[in-house]
Amino acid sequence: MAVSLDMGSVASVVDDARRGFVEQFGGEPTGVWAAPGRVNVIGEHTDYNDGFVLPMAIDRACYAAAAPRADRILRVHAAQLGETVELSLDALVGPGSAADTRDAADPDMTPLTEPAVTGWAGYPVGVAWILQQAGFPVRGADVYLTSTVPVGSGLSSSAALECATALALAGVSEFELTTAELARHTQRAENIYAGVPCGPLDQMSSAFGQDGSVLFIDTRSGEVKPQPFDLAAENALLLVIDTRVSHAHGENGYADRRSACERSAEFLGVRALRDISLADLPESFAKVSVGLGETFARRVRHVVTEDARVEQFVEILHQEPVSLPRLGHRMMQSHASLRDDYEVSAPELDLAVATAVAAGAHGARMTGGGFGGSAIALVDRDLLPDVQDAVLAAFAEHGYTEPQFFPAVASAGAHRIA
Ligand code: GLA
Repeated sequence: MAVSLDMGSVASVVDDARRGFVEQFGGEPTGVWAAPGRVNVIGEHTDYNDGFVLPMAIDRACYAAAAPRADRILRVHAAQLGETVELSLDALVGPGSAADTRDAADPDMTPLTEPAVTGWAGYPVGVAWILQQAGFPVRGADVYLTSTVPVGSGLSSSAALECATALALAGVSEFELTTAELARHTQRAENIYAGVPCGPLDQMSSAFGQDGSVLFIDTRSGEVKPQPFDLAAENALLLVIDTRVSHAHGENGYADRRSACERSAEFLGVRALRDISLADLPESFAKVSVGLGETFARRVRHVVTEDARVEQFVEILHQEPVSLPRLGHRMMQSHASLRDDYEVSAPELDLAVATAVAAGAHGARMTGGGFGGSAIALVDRDLLPDVQDAVLAAFAEHGYTEPQFFPAVASAGAHRIA
């Protein structure tokens, strides 16, 4: 079975976005902006602990065709949903509105109690809101969004949507956003407006993505160091296995893990779990076990060991020749830790990982927040059909929904595309 590449060429998606804009709004868009989804290669649930992550942007993206308007209306149409949201930008600020007095430098990420819109529309509208809050002169605009990032698959379709919307609004309003500003403001839109307590991983991946590279990100300093990731040279690829179990039901689990980490850090007297080293871990584990309970201690152990695995993975990437089995081994350790210590995996993810490896993958792991979504497997090209067939057969045998496969190709971050 071939790897499915049903995204169509970029040019045809851009054409679709333009055509869709004309049909929806009349008139021509003045530009089209694209922002990718991501896979996180390793470093999971470390980003809100000030730790390390190693994501890459993928060649599936959200496309925003947009044009400015003469008035203060913002209209956003989501092609995949067939829905439009329309509101005045002036309703997003000012006395009595949900915008109140926050400013963009405020580290507080408490969600608004009464955002003007909720559901999918909270994402693009939240972006307009935060940009205005940060003092950018957002103009009225029509924005047509279409996306090749599967929703609910743990590949950051929402970060792609936010970054594409932010760039489109900046483009039509004629102001500049640096890459760091793009990542920061879109994360805050998601935290505060959409009310999702995510860390910086997804938006930074979409903003900073680079062709052919994974991004080693220190989420405390915000430093991004692209690392070469040329799997084609090794006759290998990173296969995405989308279990098609939506990760959305894990929202409470995510918030629960995040608060467990924050409580543990406070208990240990550190700013964030990033500050616990591997050498400190046995002592910290024992203290947290006694003080907060063994579950908390296991959460701490995941974060501390995962940070170390990211650094080890990067070291292996710099060795000549790169050892795929060693990379795969770190992925397996990461998955086991997420499954057993952090408890954010799902039976479908565990099955995808175990089956891919039994069929010859060098390693595999869940990627993203977990509770569903996608796994990734590091596979030699000649074993790709075996791995896919084995995973398909195992899912069928368990009565699970048929998974979808596609290769993750390290791609450019958000940019104007037309
Ligand atoms: C989700 C969040 C990210 C990150 C990952 C787990 O994707 O949006 O901020 O915490 O989960 O690594």
